[in-house]
Amino acid sequence: MGHVLVQYHSESGHTQEMAVLVAEGAAQVPGIEVRLKPLDECTVADVQWCDGIALGAPTHLGLVPWRVKQWWDGIIEPAWGKIDGKIGCAFSSAGGLGGGAELACMSILTILMNFGLLVFGVTDYVAPRTTLHYGVALPGRPKTRAEKDLCLRLGRRLAEWVSFYVDGIEASHPRNAGYARFP
Ligand SMILES: Cc1cc2nc3c(=O)[nH]c(=O)nc-3n(C[C@H](O)[C@H](O)[C@H](O)COP(=O)(O)O)c2cc1C
Repeated sequence: MGHVLVQYHSESGHTQEMAVLVAEGAAQVPGIEVRLKPLDECTVADVQWCDGIALGAPTHLGLVPWRVKQWWDGIIEPAWGKIDGKIGCAFSSAGGLGGGAELACMSILTILMNFGLLVFGVTDYVAPRTTLHYGVALPGRPKTRAEKDLCLRLGRRLAEWVSFYVDGIEASHPRNAGYARFP
């Protein structure tokens, strides 16, 4: 059974709402166990437990908030060099469109890459002009159907990759998943 961790930091609840949907999307894939945890309740054991991690945070000055950096800095000793090959992806809520949410996703992905994770983007469009190439980048909280679908899709895709690459289930590959990737 593959394990997915959705780890998030959120100060006014927007990223938390995204995280709940990401976790829901991951749970759509059969045989995947999901943990949804705020950053300050996460331990290094959660990271070691998972096969795939979705890491979400608000955009702060176009970057990841310092608390997220601090948390990952803090697990270098027990985890660096020991969690290579897990699968990672990112999501971020910003104040507005163009506020740097994709940059924040990239800084999240940079952290995960530094730890040796295999990070991915998503080519799908969940609605016209609505995609998640570098992770989910949203203004505020997920409000519209399409914004919610972005979060669900990210979690589902993470779980699909875990199921395909870790559990070896060919049917879980997105090309076999049986939903519209480009509606
Ligand atoms: C210290 C700080 C820095 C911020 N920097 C940015 C920014 O660079 N761009 C932006 O669009 N919003 C910025 N914001 C706004 C938050 O990203 C935005 O309100 C987000 O939706 C909050 O998510 P949360 O409720 O999960 O904390 C900043 C907020 C704070 C507190």
